[in-house]
Amino acid sequence: MTAKIIDGKQIAADIRKELMAEVATLKTKGVTPGLGVILVGDDPASQSYVAAKEKACAEIGIFSDDNRLPTDTTQEELLKVVERLNNDDSINGILVQLPLPKQCNESEVLTKILPEKDVDGFHPVNIGKMVIGEDAFLPCTPHGIIEILKRSKVETDGAEVVIIGRSNIVGKPLANLLLQKGEGRNSTVTLCHTGTKDIKKHTIKADIVIAATGRPNTVTADMIKDGAVVIDVGVNRIEDNTKKRGYRLVGDVDFENIYKKASQITPVPGGVGPMTITMLLYNTVLSAKRNIK
Ligand code: GUN
Repeated sequence: MTAKIIDGKQIAADIRKELMAEVATLKTKGVTPGLGVILVGDDPASQSYVAAKEKACAEIGIFSDDNRLPTDTTQEELLKVVERLNNDDSINGILVQLPLPKQCNESEVLTKILPEKDVDGFHPVNIGKMVIGEDAFLPCTPHGIIEILKRSKVETDGAEVVIIGRSNIVGKPLANLLLQKGEGRNSTVTLCHTGTKDIKKHTIKADIVIAATGRPNTVTADMIKDGAVVIDVGVNRIEDNTKKRGYRLVGDVDFENIYKKASQITPVPGGVGPMTITMLLYNTVLSAKRNIK
């Protein structure tokens, strides 16, 4: 068996087309969705993520209010920018790109964003609502994965799902979403992490394996059941002097070998990545719609 490669770019393009139509409708009502973007420092990966997010906004008609702050920005200065965006009625969503420099308190910054503008879904109020199944902004990467599974017709109902990685951004919220009732969910979820004694013991039985560890080759072919679905959340830069930019991107799974065994697999790049940005656009449009109701 060779796997069907899930085209995250195409799924993202389909959703962005739907969102573009919604933005056009909002504009006829005098509303242009706005995203406030804050980037502190000059980390190259963060700069490229933010550039991609702002480009995606522009493509579907969302305007972005770009705030680039120096690496030595204090917590107080950063909170002032958050406050200004909180109080700006033209801004429907606020994105603070993570990680922040050491002198900034990430948790305090995320908590200061108004929950109704928290389009990243990181505010404790949104996380709490998500866990108990109430209406909330869902975190973008987990939400994007749910959409990938739905639109790729992967059966999640009653499926054994193993997630590897317990981050606040991916593993923990994704486990919560997948165990809830509903389309693209209702799974039996196992969450593996660095304290798990034998990860293979879990993955080998799984119908769906989702890797979000930030380490290449976390999942190898011997760990996967024939016909399993494999979702790779990793974005790792590997030095590669044959590339103009000096590196290439790889995921957390051994794609070449798992491809021969799985039924469906997401590539890196072009799998989960485009969906993360798309769900940020989705939340920003959702926030703008809520605002006029
Ligand atoms: N850094 C890595 N992933 C993310 C994300 O989804 N949102 C933000 N704000 N920062 C990130």
